[in-house]
Amino acid sequence: MKEIINVELRTRKVDFDKCKTDLLAMGHFSDAKGLDKINRMLNSRLNGSIERVIELGDFKGKEGTSAIVYGNGQIGAERVLLVGLGERKKATLDTIRKAAANAANKAVTMKIGTISLAPHKAFGGRFDIDAMGRAMAEGTYFGSYRYDEFVTEQENGRLDSLKCEVIDSDSGKMNKLRRAVSEGAAIGKAQSYARTLANRPGNIINPAKLAEAAKQLARGSRSLTCTVFDEKQLAAKGMGGVLAVGSGSQNKPRFIVLKYSPSGKAASSRPTIGLVGKAITFDSGGISIKRPAKMDQMKMDKSGGVTVLGTMKAVAEQNLPINVYGIIPAAENLPSGTSYRPGDIIKTLSGKTVEVLDTDAEGRMVLSDGLAYAAKQKCNPIIDIATLTGACVVALGTHMAGLMGNDDKLIRQLQRAAQESGEKVWQMPSGEEYLAEMKSKIADLKNLAHLTKYGDACDAAAFLGQFVGDAKWAHLDIAGMEIFEKATEFAAQGASGYGVRLLTTYLMNLCK
Ligand code: BES
Ligand code: MN
Ligand code: ZN
Repeated sequence: MKEIINVELRTRKVDFDKCKTDLLAMGHFSDAKGLDKINRMLNSRLNGSIERVIELGDFKGKEGTSAIVYGNGQIGAERVLLVGLGERKKATLDTIRKAAANAANKAVTMKIGTISLAPHKAFGGRFDIDAMGRAMAEGTYFGSYRYDEFVTEQENGRLDSLKCEVIDSDSGKMNKLRRAVSEGAAIGKAQSYARTLANRPGNIINPAKLAEAAKQLARGSRSLTCTVFDEKQLAAKGMGGVLAVGSGSQNKPRFIVLKYSPSGKAASSRPTIGLVGKAITFDSGGISIKRPAKMDQMKMDKSGGVTVLGTMKAVAEQNLPINVYGIIPAAENLPSGTSYRPGDIIKTLSGKTVEVLDTDAEGRMVLSDGLAYAAKQKCNPIIDIATLTGACVVALGTHMAGLMGNDDKLIRQLQRAAQESGEKVWQMPSGEEYLAEMKSKIADLKNLAHLTKYGDACDAAAFLGQFVGDAKWAHLDIAGMEIFEKATEFAAQGASGYGVRLLTTYLMNLCK
């Protein structure tokens, strides 16, 4: 897949004042007493221009803000972009990632083709150079991303490539920095890939097209193989959940399996992790149809599946020494004369039967087969990721994903990966009480506990937990996290690619 803006990242050892570049991005804390050492040096070359911007109050160092000072031939850079870092004591790795994203976003908007970023010295004590370099690279991809492949009448044209370098004057840091930036680039590129797939609407991507994309991904890598089951194979295997959800659409469902085994290294002694992603290429609700407001956003209901694709890409690119299955049940949920109905009883791959009370609770139907398949492949642990419930958005808003599961250690590992990746999670309950609500009188389970949908995020998680056998399992409900309804200083409007950084970081940590 062609990246929409081609980002080229590299590292360079150079003195800050001599760095020839279109834009040199420099961080500044909102509570800093005066300028830090490097900004002070640049400021004196620029006859006090940096200090002046701050004294005049044009720039206060708040997160998400920035200001430009021109180089005027006094330094190597044409422009210095002061980037707000917020309060010093509140700064995290995500502060660095967001600052890079902000700078890259500005560069694309201003059509500036070459930018240079320097790791702020103040972070040096708190984070190692690896973590910083990686966050900067991820942020550069994140902030420069645009989705405009169907815009034919672009008024001013736009940048098609962004050259970005991470610079430092200390040659002793360069080797580590180079490795870190290349890790971050692999993750950043994979996240942009996921965002583009997620942004493509339902008339462009249907289950078969998504399967094609997965096959293409596997063709580009020696360590990935892709198997796709079509509707006939789904029936032969007994994947009743995926078939039921896909039955209303002319675009038939697919079950996508990507298998990653690292080349070279013997990985048989390593765990096999199962990643299961919900991919509803459009969710109208089916017979239990949704109201029209924001229904267009349901083209993003494939985001969990797409995040799994992006994660597999990042894992393969880095040749991580673990085994990973990426399992993506894909269907389109539409109403028609062939749709599944409220009241239907569906036999799933696991053998368990499900009474359908609402065809709009389709995610748990397709995931039941995805999770059972992962368990049959002996994946352990199994992690699923899905835009599953509106109830999760009601509970957590759009800042954190819901995290449930049956294993405390796995939950902690994901919480840690969330902290490092800046893709936040919040643990929510699921278990006995919730499971009890999901039992049916006429089948093993039902797909909805109450008409009120109270607690549905927890109910849905309890339902999913029934399909993983004895495996350790965690569930990420990313409803509301998959999309930015409006552009911000850090990100374009549209798909967020949420979860690619989180899951890749989790897997990379397992390899340490
Ligand atoms: N894909 C939706 C959940 C969703 C809601 C994702 C908002 C992103 C933003 C899911 O398939 C759904 O329709 N859930 C229903 C479940 C209900 C019928 C039990 C919901 O949340 O209303
Ligand atoms: Mn739905
Ligand atoms: Zn859905």
